[in-house]
Amino acid sequence: MDTALPPDERAELLLARMTQDEQLQLVMGYPGANTRPPSGRMPPEELRPLLPGTAGYVPGIPRLGVPALIESDAGLGIANNFHLRPGDEATALPSGLATAATWNSALAEAAGSVIGAEARDRAFNVVLGGAMNLARETRGGRTFEYAGEDPLLAGVITGSVIRGIQSQHVICTVKHYALNDQETGRTVLSANIDETDARESDLLAFEIAVEQGDPGAAMCAYDRYNGTYACENDPLLNGVLKGDWKYPGWVLSDWGAVHSTAEAANGGLDQESSEGSDREQYFGPALKQAIADGKVTPQRLHDMVHRILRSMFAHGVFDYPATRQLSALEAHRQIVYRDAAEGMVLLKNERGILPLPHMAQRIALIGAHADVGMLSGGGSSQVMPIGHTSADDFPVGAAEVASGAKVRPAGTEIYDPPSPLATILQANPAANVQYADGEDVAAATELARQSDVVIVFARQWMSEGRDVPNLRLPNDQDALIQAVAAANPRTVVVLETGGPVAMPWLDQVGAVLEAWYAGNAGATALAQVLFGNVNPSGKLPITFPASEEQLPRPSIPRGAAPGAPFDIDYFEGANVGYRWFQGRNLTPLFPFGYGLSYSSFHLDGLAVTSKGRLTASVNVTNDGPRGGMETVQFYAALPDGTGIRRLIGWSKVPLKVHERRRVTIAPDPRLLARFDEAAHGWRVAAGDYIISAGASSASLPLNATVKLTAQQLPP
Ligand code: BGC
Repeated sequence: MDTALPPDERAELLLARMTQDEQLQLVMGYPGANTRPPSGRMPPEELRPLLPGTAGYVPGIPRLGVPALIESDAGLGIANNFHLRPGDEATALPSGLATAATWNSALAEAAGSVIGAEARDRAFNVVLGGAMNLARETRGGRTFEYAGEDPLLAGVITGSVIRGIQSQHVICTVKHYALNDQETGRTVLSANIDETDARESDLLAFEIAVEQGDPGAAMCAYDRYNGTYACENDPLLNGVLKGDWKYPGWVLSDWGAVHSTAEAANGGLDQESSEGSDREQYFGPALKQAIADGKVTPQRLHDMVHRILRSMFAHGVFDYPATRQLSALEAHRQIVYRDAAEGMVLLKNERGILPLPHMAQRIALIGAHADVGMLSGGGSSQVMPIGHTSADDFPVGAAEVASGAKVRPAGTEIYDPPSPLATILQANPAANVQYADGEDVAAATELARQSDVVIVFARQWMSEGRDVPNLRLPNDQDALIQAVAAANPRTVVVLETGGPVAMPWLDQVGAVLEAWYAGNAGATALAQVLFGNVNPSGKLPITFPASEEQLPRPSIPRGAAPGAPFDIDYFEGANVGYRWFQGRNLTPLFPFGYGLSYSSFHLDGLAVTSKGRLTASVNVTNDGPRGGMETVQFYAALPDGTGIRRLIGWSKVPLKVHERRRVTIAPDPRLLARFDEAAHGWRVAAGDYIISAGASSASLPLNATVKLTAQQLPP
């Protein structure tokens, strides 16, 4: 407990006092929710009041003052989806994709601090957050949890969230390491990819997040990576993470992702998370036996425990014990509000339809339970904020029953309060606001016809455990939007989607605003954006394809039968998302990096220098009618003849009307390099690089060529 000593030294002093059984205890976790695990081992009496609602726990060692690890899912706020008790209601953040769409790392860090604070207030000391698998599968059921398709953006944003969480003296994970990029067959698929390509895409995203966020733990994933389960994958865990990246934290398994004892222990797994989720208990007595049999060395057990204790010391778990208290929910709401507001992406705005004027007008709100709240995503990250509504509470419409076509997804949609109906009325009390649920298309169309402006809410529910079947809005919502827009061209579509959707009605509507899953302050932010008190500044962190046919895999890969193992060949390599579209010359519906403002911005004067470290700078001017924020993006084409441009940096700047600023970036050299498998490191090739600046990956008006000399960098 000498806080002057470095965490590694404190861990060693403590380890020297631990028996082997105590060490084995620290590397074995149990399910949290008071369920009886197969071993019959129940959580200690004193922990039980804390455990409902937790994902897992690891008993402490009171004799030595080692606290129990009490773990909660909390990527988007504290996930309290079972055993709710008063005081357990937490702040729901916008989806991970929404936070990524802010391109604002300081805001992402602030959002993380909300999660960290609420975790502490519930006595959790491990947050199972930092979810960031690269969006290789646009329809992936957890796309909403993650941070998009670009390794730099995903790494920086997720790293910032993790930093914010850990600022509150709780440990945060980064997950799911690695390449668990779709939900279909997640526990049986093998993600097959060349090392070079993985290093420049999915692994680079993790590498950057680990550098920026310093997560105390990393969660290994369900899938197999190049044939071997991620939680026993020596190249992935020992080679890349702990070896090349010198990661000092511990690797804990996803719930049910362990398949072996000695292979897992020697492959780099440091803690089995949840007995009962795995087919059998692989650590615990089985690990003790493996050590006795010489299959796992005592040094390896020592290393596992060292890593756990080291992170506990480094992130304040010993020095700042968490205790239950009520959270500063109102202060948290302010931060979450900014996150939601900056994450909304204006995709289309014609005929000056937005922002709506502050005056008496007839506004029709249609669909997506806009009278109740805003949709959130399902699965282990689900948060239940105060006053939430579950879709189970909605009456099932007669048409829904009769047609059988409109079926609710299995699982439950949760709607976060407040409702857009309430916040829009509040933002413009002079308006006459009417709501129609959209079930009756004729009634909705009639309401649209009688209104000055129509706001149609469209929803796409995503949940962990299942991918969405396609890019279409479910439940005939396209037909509803088409009918309403035909009745009133002053139609604004607000999308509450987990990820990209197709928009067959795009030409017929006046405006489209992507609000994602906007969280607890989402509707408040939405009203401020619609009425122009907030100027939208979000930019897409993911490409919106025009159709499934444009994707590397038009249909989602799956096994011959449920549960049958299968391979996914990630033949697109590192060219994920917009890089795939560029390489194939495909025009998406909306490109990565795209997003409109109520103002307009002009770029000029791109200058690139390569003396010492490469830098690129450009002027950005607000030449439109309002103050706002612009995200200036920089991309590079390598001298490899492909012409594919990768994001190498960005700068998000506030600009008053007519204000002009010069922004400069100094890109990480790895972003200009290829990973050289043979030389085991990054290699910047000598040659001409094209550096571009613009407002999206598909709008890069300014280009400069710079000659770089060859450079070798460590792995
Ligand atoms: C999810 C993890 C989560 C864990 C514990 C798993 O199914 O993949 O993200 O942390 O459950 O709830």
